[in-house]
Amino acid sequence: MFNNIVSTWNKRRRSKSLDQLNPWVYKTAELWQVKEQGAPLPLPPPKKRSCSMVFTLKEMEEATGMFSDKNLIGKGGFGRVYRGVLKDGQIVAIKKMDLPTAKQADGEREFRVEIDILSRLDHPNLVTLIGYCADGKHRFVVYEFMPKGNLQDVLNGIHGEVRMGWGQRLRIALGAARGLAYLHSTTAVGVPVVHRDFKSSNILLSDHFEAKISDFGLAKLMPQDLDLYATTRVLGTFGYFDPEYALTGKLTLQSDVYAFGVVLLELLTGRRAIDLSQGPQDQNLIVKIHQMVGDRKKLRKVVDRDMGKGSYTLESVSMFAGLAARCVCFESAGRPAMQDCVKELQLIMYANMKI
Ligand SMILES: Nc1ncnc2c1ncn2[C@@H]1O[C@H](COP(=O)(O)OP(=O)(O)OP(=O)(O)O)[C@@H](O)[C@H]1O
Ligand SMILES: [Mg+2]
Repeated sequence: MFNNIVSTWNKRRRSKSLDQLNPWVYKTAELWQVKEQGAPLPLPPPKKRSCSMVFTLKEMEEATGMFSDKNLIGKGGFGRVYRGVLKDGQIVAIKKMDLPTAKQADGEREFRVEIDILSRLDHPNLVTLIGYCADGKHRFVVYEFMPKGNLQDVLNGIHGEVRMGWGQRLRIALGAARGLAYLHSTTAVGVPVVHRDFKSSNILLSDHFEAKISDFGLAKLMPQDLDLYATTRVLGTFGYFDPEYALTGKLTLQSDVYAFGVVLLELLTGRRAIDLSQGPQDQNLIVKIHQMVGDRKKLRKVVDRDMGKGSYTLESVSMFAGLAARCVCFESAGRPAMQDCVKELQLIMYANMKI
């Protein structure tokens, strides 16, 4: 009897220490319970978790033709992304973690946050997680495939002659706003979620140019009753940083609203919000937008020439610029909530119907 207890205890101790010593030991998503998210949170039962599939390395190799270059669709900070076909014929996007040793611990954390959070979310404007692979040291995330790629590439004309009219841009803005409003509400996971890396390259487009937000690896759950969260490391992407968060490290839902305002500016002008290749007066649209609001002449000059003049009304463009200006307000308290952005974009769409 005593021997049994000792051996069980030893086994447990061994498996626990193995787990701690070797971060690559595979654990099911339920056991990840990502650290650094504050006190344990009262999460409602996950909605989609049972649907996430777990793949082996062999299945990932077969789906992508051994990661053949002809299936490569992009590269990002986490690694390469491939188009893949699963055994049942479903077309997917497969993101392969590919990081130097020094960055692997951060990559592992991002991977777990991505799976942990995305598997709980369910909204038409968020990219769907199909599954993941954690085979030895290999890490892959499998998503639904978004045929039109990301918004930034489309705006920069990377895919050739895809010209988006104003109506299409408004629908993308509204879809992205709805996705963020859902994240910021408590309906998603029981507490609001801050995305922290919202940007035009993380807005993916379906065949019909519907927007879906991707990349939740930097997302944070906001403990309830806290409207800000103090962080030691400021994470995100240059050009989309909330200045208040960058200065103080205090993360709020409004940091996403700032980044959303930057994307609105990109949709309006077809330019990056901070573009160092422009002359000194034109480099920073975020600074300029406050002078342009209310001045239709100036506004007309910055509207993306790729949009047919007949596709927009000046009223809707000027309301849109007004909303963007409020979203990129320096103080977070001056920015609207995402739910208000959704309502305002619906009004702007209405204002554009009077062409
Ligand atoms: N689900 C998907 N469907 C189709 N293409 C995708 C999908 N996910 C990512 N991509 C493409 O893969 C490319 C790389 O994406 P990734 O998220 O790794 O990098 P990024 O967003 O450009 O930069 P960062 O690493 O800073 O987020 C992007 O250009 C994107 O268009
Ligand atoms: Mg991305």
